[in-house]
Parts: sequence; structure tokens; C-alpha cells
Amino acid sequence: MTAEHTGPDAIEPGARPGAVGTDGPDADGPDAGVPMALRVVDLARKLASFDERWSPRIIAELNGQHVKIVKVEGEFAWHHHDAEDELFLVLDGWLTIDLRDRALELGPGQLCVIPRGVEHRPRAERETHLLLFEPASTLNTGNVRNERTVQRPERI
Ligand code: NI
Repeated sequence: MTAEHTGPDAIEPGARPGAVGTDGPDADGPDAGVPMALRVVDLARKLASFDERWSPRIIAELNGQHVKIVKVEGEFAWHHHDAEDELFLVLDGWLTIDLRDRALELGPGQLCVIPRGVEHRPRAERETHLLLFEPASTLNTGNVRNERTVQRPERI
């Protein structure tokens, strides 16, 4: 393997060009025309591609669900989701999810599910990276509309 083919974009020698999807948001890149389902998604590379806080990006979808990543820091708004359960997985950092009667503390490699209808408020003292798994209909601010509401999360 040559030096320029050691990154996540590396394609196995002998692979048919375009037959295997690799990671990358470029419309003109190796993913051009490759369905999202057949891409290899590199979380570190996806996380390095944006810096915005509280703005989820879609990195995969299956069965009507979205897999998203998001960088959070500070305090989000209290909200709930009428119709969706939400999964939070901490990739890096520490997340507190306030509930009305207690708080959940999550570290790297830990996850929890917030059932529909349950009020919650995510917060993080420092930059924290999360993976979210939830129905495609899920709005990040749930029943609340504010400046952090993302109607159509970007696919990366
Ligand atoms: Ni929520």
C-alpha cells in the first residue's frame, strides 16, 4: 500500500472502483452514486468534519431510523418526544441527562434510552461527542422550537 492510500478512504487492492463505498461527504468523491447503506462510515473522520455544537448529522439510516452524531457542550433545552424513544451513546466526553426526578451520568462507551414522553435535558460541561439512534421523524428539540432546532439534519 502506498502512503496516499492508508487512510479511511483506502480501497482494498483489486476492489472494483465504485463497488465499495467509503467514507466521505464529497459528492464528487469515491461515494458519488453509492447508496448510504453500502458505505464504510468512519466515526472519527465524520466527527472531524464539523465543529458546530447541538447540530446532529446523519451518518447512516436503516429501517426508518437514523444514526446521527452530534457534538454537545453546555446545556440544552428541556423537551420530550411525543412519539420517539431516543438512544444516546457517549463516544467521547461526559454527558448528563437531567430527568425531572434525577440525572443520568454517561461516560465513554455508555448509553441510555430515553422513552417517548419523558422530559429530558442533555448537558455537558465540556465538548462531548454522542451517537444518537432514533426514528427518522425525531426532531432534536422534541416538542420545543428554538434556535437550536434542526429541521433537516445534514447527511454527511
Ligand atoms: Ni431529546
